Amino acid sequence: EQASDICVSFFGAGYVGLVSSVCLADYCKKVYCLDTDKEKISRLRNLEVPIYEPLLEEKLRRNYESRRLIFLSEDFELAVRESHIVFIAVGTPSRRGDGHADLSYVFSVAESIAEMLPSGYTLIVIKSTVPIGTCSKVQELIKAKTKSSKVQFDVVSNPEFLRQGSAVDNFLHPDRVVIGGCGPMKSLSRTLMETLYSPFVKDKETLLFTSWEEAEMIKYASNAFLATKIQFTNEIADFCQLVNANISVVTRAIGLDERIGHHYLQPGPGFGGSCLPKDIRALVRSAQEYNYSMRLLESVIEGNEVRKRRIAQWIASLASESCIEEDLGTFLHGHHTTHTTTVNIYGKKFGILGLTFKANTDDLRDSPAIFVVQELLSLGARVSVYDPQVKAESVTKYFAAFQGFPLDICDDSYTACQEAEVIAILTEWEEFRDLDWNRLHEVVSRHVIVDTRNLLEPDVISDKGFRYYSVGRPP
Ligand code: UGA
Repeated sequence: EQASDICVSFFGAGYVGLVSSVCLADYCKKVYCLDTDKEKISRLRNLEVPIYEPLLEEKLRRNYESRRLIFLSEDFELAVRESHIVFIAVGTPSRRGDGHADLSYVFSVAESIAEMLPSGYTLIVIKSTVPIGTCSKVQELIKAKTKSSKVQFDVVSNPEFLRQGSAVDNFLHPDRVVIGGCGPMKSLSRTLMETLYSPFVKDKETLLFTSWEEAEMIKYASNAFLATKIQFTNEIADFCQLVNANISVVTRAIGLDERIGHHYLQPGPGFGGSCLPKDIRALVRSAQEYNYSMRLLESVIEGNEVRKRRIAQWIASLASESCIEEDLGTFLHGHHTTHTTTVNIYGKKFGILGLTFKANTDDLRDSPAIFVVQELLSLGARVSVYDPQVKAESVTKYFAAFQGFPLDICDDSYTACQEAEVIAILTEWEEFRDLDWNRLHEVVSRHVIVDTRNLLEPDVISDKGFRYYSVGRPP
């Protein structure tokens, strides 16, 4: 068998389900992408891609037009009956209150799949990020629900490692593909997964067969490690500032040690997004169920929360002349015992550049920038925001508690910075490197730039007549 003989279904046309189905449709016989959200499905059929992801639109169009990719919001049974492999790729958001992963979507989809399974063999693959032990529960649940003894199935875990902004490329060129719970060599599940991924894996080493629990752990451990690396870098960056050292020089040098590596050593306003914060919380919570405290990771979570608040307060403090000499290091040093800023920023105007949790995405979930804007608004500031991928209507749900507050979403950087006392760069969009600094100089009311992503060259910006602050670098 080849990948082109295989028919697959994806339950969930969210980020992971959509990117994976679009990419697999390049090679498979047929891919069904299923979602109960009728509006989303009808948009997809009109080739409207709901997320900003480079390369996705063009691939989606090609595969949809060639009928290898099919979008359905009902009649899922038809898809399941035809599929050799059925993926579960629904969301596992943080449960309100306790930080646990909410598995209700995964379980309810698993139940309905169980009822649709035809006679013969179907492989069920869990792609959603799920706590350790979930695959085993899903297997039990499906077993209990299947009606006929002619129905045969296996459940395997196949976590995803896609990064927003480069998800298509990550899918096509994976560092590794992890498949958990296939059992012995030549088992049907193993052969099917090997065949499915054969167009994407460069060599046998890239395909890792593990147990269910190992696969589930690998996913969480990867994201927790990345989050830890970022939090570590942020701490070193803050200390660098106190001793007048440059974090970029430090990370370049430590990264040359292959054991450390260069990735995820970029300081910033704290890590965000729909994965790192949620997954690290879920991991810590599930360890607690075994009476185990993951102290390091607990401190990473806490450190990141504190960081977002401090970054907001630092930006606020720079609106006052008396605090103007405070770089982040001094600010943190001076305020290490208190969480509140003493600066009154009531009615002061802040120009915010960037709102997404990182560049090359339109995703606002758990974005440090959203938190910073909320803090500034709570302190009575007027805030204008520009982000290349964010429209006014997409932010409303994040600012539901701030109705009537002076928040403007603008169409360009210059409008956002009009009369600003402080400009703050919160997302590392490339276009912020090439702003017309003379024009910006004219429109603001004070010449202060806070660059929380270390995107700009300090000398260049200072030469343009701005006071420039970044993270972990001497002014
Ligand atoms: C992350 C992982 O990188 C993917 O491997 C994983 O598949 C995905 O979560 C997931 O679980 O679905 P993503 O959420 O797209 O991907 O975000 P990242 O690119 O990892 O960035 C996360 C956050 O860390 C962002 O806020 C980013 O600005 C920040 N970051 C990243 C830094 O502050 N410094 C760095 O050096 C790198």
